Amino acid sequence: MSEMGRIKMVLDKDYQLSEVDKRLFGSFIEHLGRAVYDGIYQPGHPLSDEDGFRKDVMDLVRELNVPIIRYPGGNFVSGFRWEDSVGPRDRRPKRLDLAWRSTESNQIGIQEFSKWTKKVDSSVMMAVNLGTRGVQDALNLLEYCNHPAGTRYSDLRIAHGDRDPYDIKVWCLGNEMDGPWQIGHKTAEEYGRLAEETAKAMKLIDPGIELVSCGSSNVDMPTFPEWEATTLEHTYDYVDYVSMHNYYGNRDNDTVDYLAGSDDMDRFIRTVIATCDYVKAKKRGKKDINLSFDEWNVWFHSNEEDDDIMQNHPWQHHPSLLEDQYNFEDALMVGLLLITLMKHADRVKMACLAQLVNVIAPIMTEAGGGKSYRQTIFYPFMHASTYGRGIVLVPSIHQTRHATKNHDEVTDCESVVVYNPEKEEISIFAVNRTLDKDVELEADIRSFGDYKVREHIVLEHDDLKAVNTALGEQVAPKIVQQSKVEDGVLTGLLHRASWNVIRLGK
Ligand code: AHR
Repeated sequence: MSEMGRIKMVLDKDYQLSEVDKRLFGSFIEHLGRAVYDGIYQPGHPLSDEDGFRKDVMDLVRELNVPIIRYPGGNFVSGFRWEDSVGPRDRRPKRLDLAWRSTESNQIGIQEFSKWTKKVDSSVMMAVNLGTRGVQDALNLLEYCNHPAGTRYSDLRIAHGDRDPYDIKVWCLGNEMDGPWQIGHKTAEEYGRLAEETAKAMKLIDPGIELVSCGSSNVDMPTFPEWEATTLEHTYDYVDYVSMHNYYGNRDNDTVDYLAGSDDMDRFIRTVIATCDYVKAKKRGKKDINLSFDEWNVWFHSNEEDDDIMQNHPWQHHPSLLEDQYNFEDALMVGLLLITLMKHADRVKMACLAQLVNVIAPIMTEAGGGKSYRQTIFYPFMHASTYGRGIVLVPSIHQTRHATKNHDEVTDCESVVVYNPEKEEISIFAVNRTLDKDVELEADIRSFGDYKVREHIVLEHDDLKAVNTALGEQVAPKIVQQSKVEDGVLTGLLHRASWNVIRLGK
């Protein structure tokens, strides 16, 4: 172990960045692999309810406290014909899904998904197909979902058994339209015009909706950030958010450098904010375009198997795709990414952990109808979603740093502090991302009066590669006695390679 690291902060309840929009803790279910079929839906399974939804999976989703879930894709949406997936189930056609080279049975569609999201106390973030389809189709779907009654598509919904509209508030205008892999891929100019016209017309049907314009598929796209600038020049007047997507992975098996990667997310967010503000200035606009980081996670473990299935064994119905098995260091990375998102709560209003069940997911079900279980990444997400509701504070911080292969200077410990005035609680989220240095935390919290430590939760493990399986959870949080408050000063110990949540209150 090398010398001790240090993080010293002063917290003041009046130094506030922003309220956290609860939709920062959203997630994503795509018609992909075993996310829907054998994931959330498995008729005949002993734990499924009268609608075929897995009750054990719903319990875990509720534990995660997810307020919004993006649906039905992802790449899938760019070839999706939504009318195939509504109405009497025995008349729904099977289709080829070109995005994942699978067969789609359409047994689950917006009717069932909307019902499922209610059961898990969540809501739908709906994506429209701007790959193979366009303005009219998006309008038909919006009318089907949100118009009360008395028109062709609203009456069709009612004929299908749903009198009440689904009232979907957030709509994504396509998915990753900058990506050459996307069915119906477009240039920025082509997408910008299509998204502008689609958005304009959608808001005529329902002015209360919020729209998300496609940003770049990841930070390494050659067209980033020109894509955002060009498309937003078209969509600025009609949209509310621009989307961001990025996945991370320890591809070189260099954990210290991997864990520094959340700084790349931070830089990505700053660049997109700057680009949105540039367009606002150019348009002499009044409103800010905010950010919807609606695909983020670790994704790299399963890549080779996925390629093999799609290339050599295509057209299966719900094959096992993107089933990354997450280890302890991935949980640290997810914790770091959550901290980064919360630190930008003033502009990142929505974010979706991609995805939720079986596909690059915190929740897994065993193939062939067995048990469900929590992956390692489940825990930081659950903690952030549960205790990260409130106001992000702007602390003054002094701390130790280190260098990694690709990052000259990164903090030993990344942290964010959320103050919840209703609950009279502060939650300090901190990841010690060094592998050889415990970090001493000192926080001046005098402005909060006589707050004490309520609990200090830690996720740590000696083996960075430890995983959870259906047979048992090696990686699970524990409560430790490693912090205390004396005379308005919190002191604590943050072990090397650990995720920490220190909850303080009266
Ligand atoms: O989440 C998996 C895939 O990643 C999504 O379908 C796509 O949008 C992204 O490339």
